[in-house]
Amino acid sequence: MPGPTTHRQYPTTNRSVARARSDSLAFLSFCGIGREEEFAGDLVLVISELVTNAVTHGRAPGTSGRRVGMSIEKDGNVFRVEVRDTQSDAMPVLCEARIGLDGGGRGLWLVDSLADKWGVRPEGVGKTVWAEKEFGAGNVGE
Ligand SMILES: Nc1ncnc2c1ncn2[C@@H]1O[C@H](COP(=O)(O)OP(=O)(O)OP(=O)(O)O)[C@@H](O)[C@H]1O
Ligand SMILES: [Mg+2]
Repeated sequence: MPGPTTHRQYPTTNRSVARARSDSLAFLSFCGIGREEEFAGDLVLVISELVTNAVTHGRAPGTSGRRVGMSIEKDGNVFRVEVRDTQSDAMPVLCEARIGLDGGGRGLWLVDSLADKWGVRPEGVGKTVWAEKEFGAGNVGE
């Protein structure tokens, strides 16, 4: 039986990041994980970085409207997040060389360290950046 899922569409504006955080916390709460739990903080930070990237780097020039999709799916203890944007000409890259230059280039490093795994799937238009994190795995004693 499929686990609980949520799917949202947001406009490509900075305000969408806060909405995605809020929607994510609501979904986690529905799944029995409170906002005070470390897992919730970590997963919401991952989502926040991916949605921030989608609204800043993942926007095709001249487009507007509800162009960023976010979904969260719970499969057993694994939460899978997907963030879809509409910019096909640029892809996410871990940019080590840029760290320290202008303060940017850290978001995906946070995603890389907080998520169990993440990746990118090209779509017909744009791409989906996904990340997975297992609740209750590997946090004890770290
Ligand atoms: N959804 C996306 N679409 C296109 N390019 C992306 C996307 N996400 C990330 N990138 C590219 O990957 C780079 C690294 O992303 P990252 O989130 O690590 O850094 P940043 O967004 O530039 O800065 P920061 O997140 O630290 O504010 C970005 O600068 C951008 O070039
Ligand atoms: Mg970023």
